[in-house]
Amino acid sequence: MNTLLTLPENKSTVSDPPKAVTYEELGSVGLIRIDNPPVNALNQEVRNRLAEALAQATNSPRVKIVLIISGGKTFSAGADLKEFDREMTDPSLQQLQAAIEMMPVPVVAAICGLALGGGLELALACHYRLAHEDARLGLPEITLGIVPGAGGTQRLPRLIGSRPALEMIVSGTPITAAEAKSKGLVDEVAEGDLRDSAIKFCEQLVRDGSKPRPTRDLAAADSLDESMIAAVLGAHARALKSRTTQRLVIDAVKAATLPFAQGIEVEAAIAKKSLASPESLALRHIFFAERGSSKVEGVPEHATHPDIGQVAIVGAGTMGTGIAMAFADAGRSVTLIDNDETALARSKDIIRSTYASGIKRGRISQETADERIARISGSTDLSCVSAADIAIEAVFEDMDLKKRVLSQLDSVLPPQRLIATNTSTLSITELGHATAHPRRVLGLHFFVPAQASKLLEIVRGKESSPDTVATALHVAKLLRKVPVVSGDAFGFIGNRMMLDGYFREAEQLLLEGASPQQVDAALEQFGFAMGPQRVSDLGGNDVGTKVRIQLYQRESRPDPYFVLADRLTELGRLGQKTGRGFYRYEQGGRDALPDPDVDRLIEKLASQRGIVRSSIDDKEIVERCILALINVGAVVLEEGIAFRASDVDVVWTSGYGFPRHLGGPMFYADTLGIGHVAARIRHYQRRLGPYWRPAGLIEKLERENSSFGQWDRQRKAAMAKPGE
Ligand code: COA
Repeated sequence: MNTLLTLPENKSTVSDPPKAVTYEELGSVGLIRIDNPPVNALNQEVRNRLAEALAQATNSPRVKIVLIISGGKTFSAGADLKEFDREMTDPSLQQLQAAIEMMPVPVVAAICGLALGGGLELALACHYRLAHEDARLGLPEITLGIVPGAGGTQRLPRLIGSRPALEMIVSGTPITAAEAKSKGLVDEVAEGDLRDSAIKFCEQLVRDGSKPRPTRDLAAADSLDESMIAAVLGAHARALKSRTTQRLVIDAVKAATLPFAQGIEVEAAIAKKSLASPESLALRHIFFAERGSSKVEGVPEHATHPDIGQVAIVGAGTMGTGIAMAFADAGRSVTLIDNDETALARSKDIIRSTYASGIKRGRISQETADERIARISGSTDLSCVSAADIAIEAVFEDMDLKKRVLSQLDSVLPPQRLIATNTSTLSITELGHATAHPRRVLGLHFFVPAQASKLLEIVRGKESSPDTVATALHVAKLLRKVPVVSGDAFGFIGNRMMLDGYFREAEQLLLEGASPQQVDAALEQFGFAMGPQRVSDLGGNDVGTKVRIQLYQRESRPDPYFVLADRLTELGRLGQKTGRGFYRYEQGGRDALPDPDVDRLIEKLASQRGIVRSSIDDKEIVERCILALINVGAVVLEEGIAFRASDVDVVWTSGYGFPRHLGGPMFYADTLGIGHVAARIRHYQRRLGPYWRPAGLIEKLERENSSFGQWDRQRKAAMAKPGE
């Protein structure tokens, strides 16, 4: 019996329910099976029962080898992230690993699906590893701001070498079974039924007289030199921009050159430090926020939804074409309908060239591209919509035109089937009233390019039914997009915050004295992939102007409100596509070059408004843009357009380039402290006038000494106890 583990008393069998782990003996093989849906996270229950199973195997005279295998599609997604905020209880994963390494008989891990984080670390501590050909193995902790803390940084370098280990840990991207075999991470790759192959593999090891082979006993790892480190960091520079976890990873991997016991202590201290870092708190917040955004009040979590095999999309412009590719990529058949043959032909060309560029970049094979292209057919006949499981309208952004199309769709598509409108500015409720069945209508706000963007805003009209929302959430899952449900108000969540908060403040700063390049550089330094003026030039200044034309039909805004961007549109300075915008661009180039004409235009617009321009420091630029974003975010919450602060964070990190490692604007506000946020907004209110005013929700949270996170938790608790 292993002495490293303290086991619960009086547990003679581990097969009693709940069966998070089961143990059985098949001849000389002690078979331990982890069964903890959905992803076999190694929570306390699993660890307890693994310890029991290992003890049973150790005590059985028949057992000559132990096999660890998993039920479901995932070997294990690792440690239970929900336990990270609490005190961990024994047995720890490290204790289990030590027990495995000390087993008197060999222990084999048979990996199906994903072995991630602690799941892979468990396998690393086993004496032999077998992976199914479809398996993928990785240490993705860095994506959560964590350094692997269960021996990953010590055992992986011992098995595959320090540089490949550093590469795997810093990239966070899982590798295939074949790659794992070639690196020496697994011993065998199995085809077909993994359990059968694994048992045969074990029997062979027994016949060969193979002994336990603890990874910890392998020679200390080779050392990393600075050029290796620079090469690995350079390869991931974009993903790691403004991040800090990679430095901790390097320190931990370097410790693999020490004797194992020392190295593991260094790793434990570094992992603990990473867990407490603001970066990790933010990234873990976003992890759960993204998974929580599809849990919507009034929509049953496991609502039934129709199978979606056939999709009709009306409008073969940029959005319709992108949406068609998104569904084709998800294996669905698409009919793209447009009454203009030329538009259909153009769309077909775009589809072909987009897939051709995917092939050129090595992202997909010719065969896959051909299959996807074949899934999209074009038609000029709207009546073919009747065969579709859902219909999406993606015609030009014009209320009357969209109403006409929706009404036609409503008459041909059997009732109950979802009709979605792809709009970024129009009222979903009003559009729904153009049909006889407004309950089945909602908005799907796709972002450009629709086939690649991560975010999908699902806009609930006043009449949209819970079933309709549930179907839309299912659609998002099919398309592998992160859904956020928004209320039906101008700009929904993201564009409202962009227009009234972030971009507006950026323009105000230009009028007051900053240059486009200074504003962009300051916000890029903060962590945005691209500053606001470069984003405008990329998307087209005319796009924003059209949105504001729609806005002014519904609401008004005090001057100055995008006077510069709209003037640029008037001047035909639409951005990259015309070679001129906030910046100028060389023929065919993408480098944003300063343009004295724009500086003169800014000076003129400022002086017309009596604004005396002066220099502004980068700190103020960032603070004002981010506070404005937070403040409008709070308004969006108090108006009920967004339901949760975490939803706002998801919108901004997955759709608008807010740095993920800061957790989104509302989480970032909590990091700053609501009192500080409110005080700084009041500071600007005194200096700049009434458009700077703390949102009611910010004042309320300040009074209650609360936070957006706390506000979310209270609402969640209230939802769980209706009527109280
Ligand atoms: N701990 C606790 N819960 C986890 C988890 C973990 N390590 N990994 C996933 N889950 C939960 C999710 O929160 C989700 O719960 P919900 O249904 O209540 O929302 C559920 O498992 C399914 O996860 P989801 O991400 O929606 O499924 P998927 O099939 O798209 O992706 C994974 C599965 C495993 C790839 C993905 O969840 C993932 O990357 N997990 C984290 C892996 C990781 O970083 N491990 C290292 C931990 S140290």
